[in-house]
Amino acid sequence: MSRFPDRAVVLSILLAMMVSVQAWAEAFPQIGRRATVAEIAAWDIDVRPDFKGLPAGSGSVTQGLKVWESKCAACHGAFGESPEVFPPLIGGTTAADVERGRVAGLNAATENARTTIMKLATVSTLWDFIRRAMPFDQPKSLSVEEVYAATAYLLHLADLVPADFVLSDQNIVQIQKIMPNRDGMTTAHGLRDIKGKPDVISEACMKDCPLEATSLMVLPASVNGRNGNLAEQNRHYGSVRGIDTSRR
Ligand code: HEC
Repeated sequence: MSRFPDRAVVLSILLAMMVSVQAWAEAFPQIGRRATVAEIAAWDIDVRPDFKGLPAGSGSVTQGLKVWESKCAACHGAFGESPEVFPPLIGGTTAADVERGRVAGLNAATENARTTIMKLATVSTLWDFIRRAMPFDQPKSLSVEEVYAATAYLLHLADLVPADFVLSDQNIVQIQKIMPNRDGMTTAHGLRDIKGKPDVISEACMKDCPLEATSLMVLPASVNGRNGNLAEQNRHYGSVRGIDTSRR
């Protein structure tokens, strides 16, 4: 048996749940309420690669330095170089990478030498992630201006913009054009390829289906034990367990 229900089954369960939630809401109007516009707005903060969702505003490298030193440097280092809590954010990119849109160092470097700016294809992701998740100990505490400023400062550390640069919703689209790894997104790996596209739609097997699923991805034995034994950490109910990583 496959460990995961197939997509069609999941979809019909979801659909049934949605229909029954609707029916419930009608049967018990006193239970629950509609989310308010303000509540939805508080959640709806994603910034897309085409910058849809990016709030208007701006922040300078100079302001960013202040934000950085007071709210970021302790964990990421003064130049975004510290590997203490996370691999370094900045470093490893060259002017030739900016020219090409692809970071050459990614091919050579070991995993720990890969910095965020080397891998990052879209500047919107940097902006979005800082706003939603940083500082790690106080996520969502930055103002829009502080997010622009911190982003500008990181871009400056990466030699992409000068020290007097002011990043804004008006010029961020220009920054996208100089991101060192802007052409680094590819579907030519990992996921199964179906007619040139990644495998995100599969057809449900309804007849003579295989009884055993074949694992397409396995954890390499070399990482066993790195984070303790997954089998002991995963949920204790149901049939799904983490694999035993106590052995090499
Ligand atoms: C208390 C420590 C801490 C502070 C302070 C902190 N960070 Fe982080 N940062 C982390 C950790 C831990 C991660 C990895 C988090 C994760 O993957 O969920 C991270 C991840 C990031 C990433 C994403 C890196 C990647 O490749 O995914 C960025 C960008 C970033 N931080 C920027 C900032 C900025 C800007 C600030 C200040 C406003 C800041 N951080 C403050 C600990 C911190």
